Amino acid sequence: FASASGATDAFLGCLAAAGVPPRLVQTPASPSYDALLLSPVRNLRYVAPGTPRPVAIVAAAEPAHAQAAVRCGRRHGVRLRVRSGGHDYEGLSYASLDGRERFAVLDLAAFREVRVDAARGEAWAGSGATLGEVYYAVGAASRALAFPAGICPTVGVGGHLSGGGFGTLMRRYGLAADNVLDAVLVDADGRLLNRTTMGEDLFWAIRGGGGESFGAVLSWKLRLVPVPETVTVFTVRRSRSQSASDLITKWQEIAPALPRDLILRVVVQSNDAQFEAMFLGRCTRLLDHMRAHFPDLGVTQADCEEISWVRSTVYFAFYSSSKPLELLLDRTGETGRYVKAKSDYVQEPIPWHVWESTWSWLEKPEAGLLILDPYGGRMGSISPSETPFPHRKGNLYNLQYYSYWFENGTAAMEKRMSWVRGMYNEMEPYVSKNPRTGYVNYRDLDLGTNELEGNVTSYAKAKVWGEKYFKGNFERLAAVKAMVDPDDFFRNEQSIPPLPSAK
Ligand code: FDA
Repeated sequence: FASASGATDAFLGCLAAAGVPPRLVQTPASPSYDALLLSPVRNLRYVAPGTPRPVAIVAAAEPAHAQAAVRCGRRHGVRLRVRSGGHDYEGLSYASLDGRERFAVLDLAAFREVRVDAARGEAWAGSGATLGEVYYAVGAASRALAFPAGICPTVGVGGHLSGGGFGTLMRRYGLAADNVLDAVLVDADGRLLNRTTMGEDLFWAIRGGGGESFGAVLSWKLRLVPVPETVTVFTVRRSRSQSASDLITKWQEIAPALPRDLILRVVVQSNDAQFEAMFLGRCTRLLDHMRAHFPDLGVTQADCEEISWVRSTVYFAFYSSSKPLELLLDRTGETGRYVKAKSDYVQEPIPWHVWESTWSWLEKPEAGLLILDPYGGRMGSISPSETPFPHRKGNLYNLQYYSYWFENGTAAMEKRMSWVRGMYNEMEPYVSKNPRTGYVNYRDLDLGTNELEGNVTSYAKAKVWGEKYFKGNFERLAAVKAMVDPDDFFRNEQSIPPLPSAK
């Protein structure tokens, strides 16, 4: 076996021989290594001293560079962590929990072109583009088109579409991954494939099966969706003393059954429930719906703002529609935070008394927040096997437990993490069961991490976390993995294992 530094040198030499310019390859000795490694990082827990770091960062600028990274990595025993926006909750795009693993980051930030064809209602977006850049480009091309994806504008297209991707248009149009028409991917053999050449099984797997497992997706062809030129948004806040528990209890049955042009999500924090809505139409119609379905919330004309869809993306990201649209292009966003999150799917309304007792959790000094995203509408009419994302009909809403903090040190971390875990444990009797499911894009290593069996990831062990994210689709994902990457080159702590051939 080559020594660690010998293998790294051979990897670097191989990249140079393949024509990857040295300025695109940073090693810990390079002056800009730290800046490049850290700038997109959204969770400082995974860059703490002692966390294993990549032997190199390959900032690919063209497909051939990504192909070389895969081929050279395989040849010289250097694994790749593919990174687009760097938002993974568990840092899997830039950190490895296995101190023995020699890995490089394949950074796709340069693949950020967004080309919109408004006449065809389609766009190509590079994996390294942010959602904000996609929204900005679509909004600039047409006021009547949109793309259904998540709320935070700095999230990367690559990871987001790989795991599903939901936001304010999901009740009308489903997930971001439901609206992918084609993709360009570098597979485990370093080949550049599109939908036709990769085949439908692999194309199915990359639209929701979670990042990393099947190759590096360089770009995605998106189906843009029609929206009215004017949409309406509102945010109303109701405190615990203004019957927030009653309202949340009712919301659970109302929100998933609302007309699909309307989404009403809730963020619960401290002693408030904040109801945030977007309606694909004008305020008068929205108020008719609110009066018919949820009069107790007491929404009035004064709460409404009528704006364009692209402006609504600014509204949800920054809680103001008057901020400049160019903020969508700011790739920096909120850094400098430590994060822990977990998620559940709720299938039966959680009783009032549980919400009432939740306030004692939310009022603790170390408390995080709860985010309730209602499903129903289009989400309920897509078959659970259409894409790897299985959480469709029968799920009322996604419940996310989210905490972030700024203080360094284990004491702060333990307090915050145990709040998230404690809140999650409290909710166990009231959420989905057998398995207790979660959303892969809200990555949670508490659900289980991979172990090797020989030189590949154990399928039996991975099933423990895998069926929580993917239910019955997990086995099909593993079958695709066995077909396209039987040696398990693309792997991380929660990558899809190859299905053993005896299965
Ligand atoms: P990152 O680059 O960290 O990648 C995530 C995973 O995908 C890693 O395993 C990585 O290796 C792999 N990967 C990345 N690019 C790849 C590529 N091109 N090909 C193959 N694999 C690739 N979700 C949601 O549905 N709705 C929402 O509103 C939000 N909001 C939100 C806000 C904030 C502040 C955060 C931190 C996260 C969210 N998310 C979310 C979750 C988000 O969708 C999820 O973290 C995505 O995986 C992030 O994608 P990035 O490309 O930024 O991550």
